[in-house]
Amino acid sequence: RSEAMTEAKRQAAEKAIEYVEDGGIVGVGTGSTVAYFIDALARIKDRIAGTVSSSEQSTRRLREHGIDVLDLNAVGPLGLYVDGADECDPHKRLIKGGGAALTREKILAEASVRFVCIVDPSKRVDVLGRFPLPVEVIPMARSLVARRIQALTDGQPVWRQDGDGRGVVTDNGNWILDVHNLRIVDPVAVERELNQIPGVVSVGLFARRPADVVIVGGEPPQVL
Ligand code: A5P
Repeated sequence: RSEAMTEAKRQAAEKAIEYVEDGGIVGVGTGSTVAYFIDALARIKDRIAGTVSSSEQSTRRLREHGIDVLDLNAVGPLGLYVDGADECDPHKRLIKGGGAALTREKILAEASVRFVCIVDPSKRVDVLGRFPLPVEVIPMARSLVARRIQALTDGQPVWRQDGDGRGVVTDNGNWILDVHNLRIVDPVAVERELNQIPGVVSVGLFARRPADVVIVGGEPPQVL
């Protein structure tokens, strides 16, 4: 089963190459599905003007392939952004941030004309929230934000820690709260509410700006 999901990730990533425009700058997400996209992009790297990356991890992989990584401030709006997701609902709204890259991913989604999301079938849900919702927080506000989230939702925030009990540090120097036990019936409202808590950097809900296209890996891939 996990082998089938791995193959589905690769199929979705290969299909996403069809959305890359000649001479364009491609926004690149983060995660194991995107890793296949980066490998596929390497084959056509001479056809694009470069990429903008959502994480140190993706930047490393892009550079290993000899693909240019540009500063978002130095380029205009991006035509295309390709990224994975942890969950995807029928309205193409997403939970992201399992890989802790949510803030830069949100910036790239916002900067892009078209957001193509690549997933394996296990990511599809009717209602978001089975996957714990990642929230990036300024370290000093961790407990405050956790209390506010508990007051505002039925969810249970858990500080993301590594094996040694240290907080997982994001590329931006912050921490992550994973909010368990949510059933997010109104994702736009939850995204707005949680974003307003002082100390929240960003919320791993992509509802206000959902994906434009979702590619579900399979033989053949399904385009939603
Ligand atoms: C990274 O922070 C996430 O938003 C990823 O997009 C998400 O975790 C999907 O990762 P996989 O492709 O590894 O499942």
